[in-house]
Amino acid sequence: MDSRPDANEAPDVGDRPGAPEEREWTAPPDDATLDESALAGLGSGTRGLFITFEGLDGCGKSTQMALLAEALTDAGYDVLTTREPGGTELGEALRSVLLDVGYAGMSSRAEALLYAAARAQLVEEVVRPALDDGRVVLCDRYIDSSLAYQGHGRGLVIEDVITLNVWATDCLFPDLTIALLVDEDIRLGRAASEAADRLESEEAAFFLRVAEGYRRLAEDHPHRIRVIDGAGAIAEVHDCVTAAVEEEFGLFSAPDPAD
Ligand code: TYD
Repeated sequence: MDSRPDANEAPDVGDRPGAPEEREWTAPPDDATLDESALAGLGSGTRGLFITFEGLDGCGKSTQMALLAEALTDAGYDVLTTREPGGTELGEALRSVLLDVGYAGMSSRAEALLYAAARAQLVEEVVRPALDDGRVVLCDRYIDSSLAYQGHGRGLVIEDVITLNVWATDCLFPDLTIALLVDEDIRLGRAASEAADRLESEEAAFFLRVAEGYRRLAEDHPHRIRVIDGAGAIAEVHDCVTAAVEEEFGLFSAPDPAD
């Protein structure tokens, strides 16, 4: 069945087209392998499970994503981690353009298109094939980054950014998004000591708009986006992340899919 929305129907980033209303996952039979059925019926319309991490630079999402990947792997799941922009040869080339301070004059529309192009390649080359294989895909940033940074941060019309990204990803939405939000002071204290890239060189007001954008997205889509306070110790935040994943999908209490 084609899960794509009607061309004239405005898609909604919270309600992935074709998503089941109930997100409960029934544990597979004891002898099922992950490839066969373990994650069947979960959200993205594929056999796998797609979880994205969002937040501002310095919120700790890359660390938390790595810890979740480790926990899921230990629990027997076949996990793939990737990042945006990047994750493919083309995506990494686009990343170096996007973050290059030499392109300080890049227009907001060009920026949105380049992020969407990197995303389109990642979805087609990496994410969809992995989900079709029944894997758990964890992605450091995805569509919500474009909504928060290019939409709220740059001031592009949100509906345009949604439409662009629905097209770029052929309607692939995350099953769950973990948004790590931290106070601006804490975030700045954690910020990398290396030279700032093109985005990091933005003025403080830009990041406040992006942070507000994430808050609005989370308010609008509470079923998909789980906000977690990223201010605590790494282990505490990790517990909150695993608790959210467990609450949504029961992955840690299910029988080991590798058995
Ligand atoms: P990166 O070094 O990966 O930042 P982080 O470690 O915080 O994820 O750089 C990616 C930058 O690109 C980051 O500043 C956020 C920005 N970005 C967008 O503006 N729009 C997007 O769609 C994506 C994916 C990232």
